[in-house]
This record gives sequence, structure tokens and C-alpha cells, in this order.
Amino acid sequence: MKPASDLILKMPIKDFAKKKVCDGHLFVPGREGRKFYVMKPGMYLDASFLKKHAKLNTVFDFIPVTDEEVVTDFLKLFKELKYLHFEKDLRMKSGEIVQRFQEVYAGGEHLLSFVLACHQEFCGVSEEYLSKMHETDLHLFRKSIYAAAIAIVIGISNDFYHYSMLKDFYNLTFALDIGLCDKDYSYFVAQACNEENKRPGSGKAWLVAQRASQSEINVFLSHPEKSHGFLKSHAHLLSYPELAEIALYQHELSSGSGFPRGIAKGQISSWEAVVMLADSFFEILDQYNFEENFLDYVAQFENEKLTSLPIGKVYRRFCKTLKYFHELSGVG
Ligand SMILES: [Fe+2]
Repeated sequence: MKPASDLILKMPIKDFAKKKVCDGHLFVPGREGRKFYVMKPGMYLDASFLKKHAKLNTVFDFIPVTDEEVVTDFLKLFKELKYLHFEKDLRMKSGEIVQRFQEVYAGGEHLLSFVLACHQEFCGVSEEYLSKMHETDLHLFRKSIYAAAIAIVIGISNDFYHYSMLKDFYNLTFALDIGLCDKDYSYFVAQACNEENKRPGSGKAWLVAQRASQSEINVFLSHPEKSHGFLKSHAHLLSYPELAEIALYQHELSSGSGFPRGIAKGQISSWEAVVMLADSFFEILDQYNFEENFLDYVAQFENEKLTSLPIGKVYRRFCKTLKYFHELSGVG
């Protein structure tokens, strides 16, 4: 993806070490003026990376993509929502969050400012597991942090406006693929997940066609159960611990197809649909093309899951809410 601006800053490792997530494009200057791309916006800054560069005393070339004021603004709104009690106030404040989201991103801003605010406010997953995700696949953390943030906006658009519920959506979505953290994880497994998310039911067949090993197929097929196990054993992550079941349903459809169990027809609720939709927007991938034009990306999003209820309904409400604020703010 092309950098959001041409502003290149010199960033010594000591300044960079204070961050938890990479908030720009990061290059290491090499000899003869050559630059090496080392990190993308949204990637996790793990301890070994920071340690290595602290030793080398690296000064990076850094192209920021976030806006500190936008991050602070969203954090303020989340804090305000947290202490509200009456339904009318909750609706108003959560509506304000979506409206602010729409205003910020109608202009083609990079999505990461909102994503960082959500991560700071809601993420309860420990550093140990954040590192595990990063070690499993550099892009797994990045996918999860984006998906979890969008679950907040999808949730609000679908009338989930309690702070604790939104926080649960965040941690559920974030941890959905934590079950992929396995020694047999590979590039094939990541691609199978991306295929599955676009075309439900295609992941396993894709792995077989690629002659993936049985252990890779197992990692893929068992990840919902493993993520579910993770959420059950980290009950502090959820205000409503029974929502851990959503991790099991992430690849089930209301038609009764899907895995790991093939649940009864019509059993998916809009709670699961919020998380499943958020998860489907993002791939475990090196490249993203939505970060600077997220609203357009949402409007044009196509996915076989959208033909299935209640995911299609949740998606339409999400679009409608964003469009509503788009019209209200007079941008479109
Ligand atoms: Fe998954």
C-alpha cells in the first residue's frame, strides 16, 4: 500500500519503543540511500524487535499515518460512554461515536487512528498472547486489531450500545483466530482462512487442493475450538462469559453448513453476526487496500456470507448507519 503522506520523519528507536503498535510505515535506511521496509501500520511491536533495534541504535525512516488528536477524541468518547446509564444517553453517545467515525473517515483518513483508540481502550489480551499472534504470523495481529475495532462500529450500528457489550465484541473478535497460534501454522493455513472468509466452506478444499499437510488442515479446522478454549480459560476478557461460544460459531452459517459442528439451522444470532462480519472484512495479508478509504470499501464489500441471515442484515444496518451520518454531516 502506498504511504499516506510523503512526510518522512527520522525516528530513533528510543522514541519508537514507547509504542505498542506500529502507527506508520517504517523503513530502515540501508547503505547507498536504499531503504528497507520493515513494518506496516497496525503491526505489533514485539519485544524482540525493539530489543534488536535498541542494540543497533537504529534510527528509522518513519511515515506516520495516524492523528494523535483523533485517537484522543475517540478515547474521550469511549470513556464518556462507559459511565452512562440511561438508554437514551447510551444511544446518543454511541451514535456520536459512529458519527465521529463517519466524519473522520469520509475524508479518506487512514483507519488506524480509530483502531489504536479501540485497542487502547478495550483490549484485554495479555502481551504474552499478542506476541504469540505476532510470532505465528506477522499479519495475524494486524488483521485482528482492525477486525476488532470494526466490530465496535458494526455493534453500535446494530443497537448494541453498552460499553461492556462493545468491549466484549472487541475481545471476541480480536481472539477469534488466536486458535491459529500453533507450531503447524503456515502460509497455507492463513490463505485457507482468507478463502473461508470470502467463500464459506471453501477453506478445507483449498488446503487439500494445495496439498497441504494433515497437520495444517487440522490447525485450520480446529482453530474455532481452540479460540473458544482460550476465551473460556481467560474469562476476565468478557463481561458476558457465555459469549465465548461465538468463537465456536465463527465459521458456522445459519443455513446449517460450516464447521466445526454444523449447527442447527437458524441458530446464529445477530451477536455472532456482528463478530463474523467484522472478521470477514479483513484478511491475514501483507497488503490491505481499505485503510485509506474505508467507507468506500464497506459500501462495495462483497462476500458470500452477506446473502445469509442475519449477517446480511447486520451488514445492511452497518452501511445504513454510516450512510445516515454521511448524509447528516453533509459530506456526500
Ligand atoms: Fe477463523
